Order: sequence, then structure tokens, then C-alpha cells
Amino acid sequence: MAWKTAIMGATGAVGTEFLTILEQRNFPLASLKLLASSRSAGRKLNFKGEQLVVEELTEKSFKGVELVLASAGGSISKKYAPIAVAEGAVVVDNTSAYRMDPAVPLVVPEVNPQDIQLHKGIIANPNCSTIIMNVPVWPLHQANPIRRIVMSTYQAVSGIGAAAMADLAEATRAALEGREYQQKVIKFPAAFNVWSHDSGIAEDGYNVEEQKALNETRKIFHCPSLRIPATCIRVPVMRAHSESINIEFTNPMTPAQVRAILGKAPGVKIVDDRARNYFPMPRDATGQDDVLVGRIRQDVSQDGGRGIDLFIAGDQIRKGAALNAVQIAELL
Ligand code: A2P
Repeated sequence: MAWKTAIMGATGAVGTEFLTILEQRNFPLASLKLLASSRSAGRKLNFKGEQLVVEELTEKSFKGVELVLASAGGSISKKYAPIAVAEGAVVVDNTSAYRMDPAVPLVVPEVNPQDIQLHKGIIANPNCSTIIMNVPVWPLHQANPIRRIVMSTYQAVSGIGAAAMADLAEATRAALEGREYQQKVIKFPAAFNVWSHDSGIAEDGYNVEEQKALNETRKIFHCPSLRIPATCIRVPVMRAHSESINIEFTNPMTPAQVRAILGKAPGVKIVDDRARNYFPMPRDATGQDDVLVGRIRQDVSQDGGRGIDLFIAGDQIRKGAALNAVQIAELL
């Protein structure tokens, strides 16, 4: 079966990665429509050696379309996903618009592929730092139920979008040359700096990205009792998020057991070379499908050998977004 497919937000950071991944994985396409704002209408993007013309997204864009890969922002998905579904398409939505809707499955294919069957037209792709954490943590949770995960992130600017990546490059160049540069989308000085995640802060002091890690993981794992205090931070890295993960298990867990489980886990690559002090780095994770996992060690502060520490890195645009969505479409 080949799908008549449309990409909503085709010119963005995730949208262009959709094109790369569909090509690399030889996804069965009957046709491919590229949709973006009127600003991009007429632009050409390369796909399998051909130049495809970007069209303006309108309410009429979905006639005959069977699959929509959406990454044009939450408000655009809220407006257009129901229109696409009414036209008979399945929408794999990379925005946060429908993630916590109880009627919409939220899927990481390595974790809960069975939930896809429950869809009524929309399947949500989880938050990027959540996906990257879920991939290595899920097989550990299956072996030994997890009670609590202390997650601290070092997130790339790719999560803000393509314009933020251009901002970081230009801000860094300007800083080195001693010039002023007015950043277009990143709200805080990006060059040689680290700043709290740009999402809104709730009354309890957690930001929205931190709330997503908790609420989305509970939904994906079907584990409402899981506790995840998260701290989400941006770093001046172009793409690929890194995360420190501290886990409290129900029963004792050794680093050797963790290595054995993760050595066989889908979507995970162990990078844990203590002799060379070589561990996961966002530069190494960039362009890779797997989440890199290292610094595997016992958390000696926890009683009874129930604590494990990890450091991980995963490509935010690939596994954190476009790849996960295409894997969902492949399962369909
Ligand atoms: P455009 O490039 O024409 O602005 P990113 O996440 O990298 O910022 O990309 C956002 C994507 O969503 C881009 O493809 C962008 O298209 C698209 N987009 C933004 N606003 C709209 C809109 N109002 N209608 C359609 N597409 C939109």
C-alpha cells in the first residue's frame, strides 16, 4: 500500500527532516504534497532528485490526501487536523495540540505501538525530550517498575524551530566579532549561554516542557503513579538534546543489569567508554536514529541499590520528532 501524503509545515526544521526520512526509509508514497504558509508558496524543495513545489496551506489542501505529517505549530494543527480527518486522512501530529486528549493515542513506537489501533483519525507524536527519555527508560521500567525519574535536560535550539538555529549561528558569529545582533526568535542571549526552557511557567514553578515530561510519559507508559520532577534547560547546541536521568526503581538494579537490558533495546545505542571518558554527546547523536546512552552507574545515594544514573543524547529533529512520526506512519 502506498499513501497519498501531505506534509504540513514542510519548510520548517522538522518538515524538511520529514522529507529526508521519507526518502531514506523509502516510505511507500503514492504522492507527496508540501504545505506551508503563503510566505513559502512556490518555493521548491528537493525530494529524491526532484524539485517539489511548496503550496500554501488552505482548507482545500487535503482533498484525496490519506496521510498528513503535521509540524506547523499547535494552532495550525488545531485548525487543520480536523479538516484533514473529515477528508478521510490520518494525521500524525507533531505538535502539542492533541497529545493529552484522552481520545487521541500518544505513541512512541518502541513503547506503546498497540495504542495506534485506538486512533480516530489523529495520532499524536510526543514532545521531543520526552521521546528521547522514554526510549531507554521503557525497557528498564518493564524489567523493574520505576517509581521516580529526576530528569535534567540540555536542549538544543532546534526545538524552537529552523529560525532559532539561524539565530544561534548568527548570534555566535556576532559575539565572536564583537558585533551587536538582534535575535529574531530566541528570547535570551544564545551565544555562550545557558537558559531555562522558553515555554511558559505554571503556578507551581514548573515550565510547560517539564509538565510534558511528566504528563506525556504517564500517558505513554500507562503509569499514572510515575513521578518525574524535571528541569528543562536550553544550551547553545544546534540540534540533539542531552539529558541527565536519575532513576528510582522498585527493586534493586545494577549497572550490569541496565547494560544487559539496554544492549538489546530497540532504538538505543550504548556509548559508555569509561577508559576513554567517552560518553553521549549531542554532536554524535546528530543525524542518528538511536538514542545514545552512557554514564551508566549506581546512584550510591539511594538505599538498597535501587538507584541508577544515566546520561543520554538523542537527535531532537529525528527521533524526537520526524523519525518518530514516520515510524508511527509505518506501523499504520
Ligand atoms: P513557513 O516556512 O512558510 O513560515 P519551524 O518549526 O522550523 O519554525 O517551522 C514551522 C513550519 O510551519 C514552517 O514550514 C512554516 O511555514 C509553517 N507555518 C507556520 N505558520 C503557518 C501558517 N499560518 N500556515 C501554514 N504553515 C505555517
